[in-house]
Formats: sequence, C-alpha cells, structure tokens
Amino acid sequence: METLKHHIIVAGIGPGSPEYMVPAARKAIEGAKYLVGGRRALSQYAKASGGQQTCAVTRDIDGVMAFVREGLAKADVVVMVSGDPGYFSLLDALRRTFDARCIDVIPGISSFQLAFSRLALPWHDAQLLSFHGRVPKESDLAYAPGRKLGMLTDVQHNSKTIAETLLAHGWPENAFYAICARLSYEDETVERMTLGEAAKHDPVGSCIIVVEEKAS
Ligand SMILES: C[S@@+](CC[C@H](N)C(=O)[O-])C[C@H]1O[C@@H](n2cnc3c(N)ncnc32)[C@H](O)[C@@H]1O
Repeated sequence: METLKHHIIVAGIGPGSPEYMVPAARKAIEGAKYLVGGRRALSQYAKASGGQQTCAVTRDIDGVMAFVREGLAKADVVVMVSGDPGYFSLLDALRRTFDARCIDVIPGISSFQLAFSRLALPWHDAQLLSFHGRVPKESDLAYAPGRKLGMLTDVQHNSKTIAETLLAHGWPENAFYAICARLSYEDETVERMTLGEAAKHDPVGSCIIVVEEKAS
C-alpha cells in the first residue's frame, strides 16, 4: 500500500449531463493538473487549452495506476467516474493500489438515483444489482413477493436477456418493468411495461432496469 503526499480525488460526475454533476466535482475537475476519465468524460471536461495532463481509462488498469502514481509525485490527481464512485467504479482498483487515506471521494448522482427519481419510486426497499460485465448470484435473482430490484446492464446483459432471466427465476409475467436509458441526456427514454412484454421487446443495453412485483 502506498502512502502519498498528494491526494487522489475521485469525482463522481453523475449520469452524464453536466446539469447532474455536483458543484464540488466540477470545481475539482476544473482545477485538475492531472485528470483521468473515460474518453467521453475527457472530451467533455478536459481543458482544451493545455496545461493539464490527461489519461483515458482503458482496459489497461495498470497503465492508469501508473499515470496516477506519476501524477501524485507532483500534484493531486482527479479521477472522474460515472455516477457515484461508491457503486462499481475505478474506486475499487484505486483502493487496492493506494492507501485509502490518500483518496478523497466526491459523491455523484448515481444512474440508479436518477432512474428511481424518474419513476417517482422510493428505493430504500430496493435491492441493487449489477449485470455490467457480471451476473448476480442466483439467490439475488430469485423471485419473492414484494421484491424490488434496480439493475445496471451492459450490451450483452440487456433489457431482454435480463427479463428472460427473471422469468426463469420465477418472477411473474405481469411484474412492473422499467427500462431507463440515456438518463439525463436530451434523448433520455423511460419505458414502462410488464416483465412479459420486456422479454419480447427489442433489447436495450447500458441502461437501468427497475422491476417490482406491484404496478408503479
Ligand atoms: C460501470 S457502471 C457505473 C455505475 C455508476 N457508478 C453509477 O453510480 O451510476 C455503468 C453502468 O451504469 C449505468 N448507467 C450509467 N450512466 C447511465 C445513464 N446515463 N443512463 C442509464 N444508465 C446509465 C448503465 O447500466 C451502465 O452500463
């Protein structure tokens, strides 16, 4: 574990639109000498005028950690992650590499929060799962009366395959099913249907799925 003089600032940038980024994250990003983020975030927020070193996050996580380490020798390093850093982000890898006392986290609005907001649905009783590059364990998918799920998806594990999976795990065909895509952007869509309809609907990937037994 490496303890360092400068800090890593992990800034949640929210679901996408700058309107949904908290001001503290914006301030950290604007003042960053070393800035890390996905290609889309960098094209949105990196300074065009120079004076800032950037690193795009790719599958080469060791390369990203090396950039962070080199930057930290000179200044704080700001790492942009989508949504909130606490739910499936680069924060995990950063904590495995650097001392947590050198990491400051600025929370962001998670795509889950915005999806549940769009549906005017409380999520204190929801179970949050991720199908983003993984499959939740069987027991988390099983139907039980009154269960409410929020799910991250990817292109492979999409709205259709997840509906089929839930039906196979005993969820009723008439369960409420919402597909929330491109949240916060101008082309945002929130489609409400039943689980049975979702299994026949064109697949939507990289979205938030909300499912619950009772109609919302
Ligand atoms: C690596 S996870 C990051 C989750 C993030 N930490 C959060 O709190 O929202 C990426 C997944 O988040 C979801 N997601 C992120 N932004 C989204 C948006 N604007 N609209 C819908 N889903 C989004 C998708 O399921 C996507 O595949």
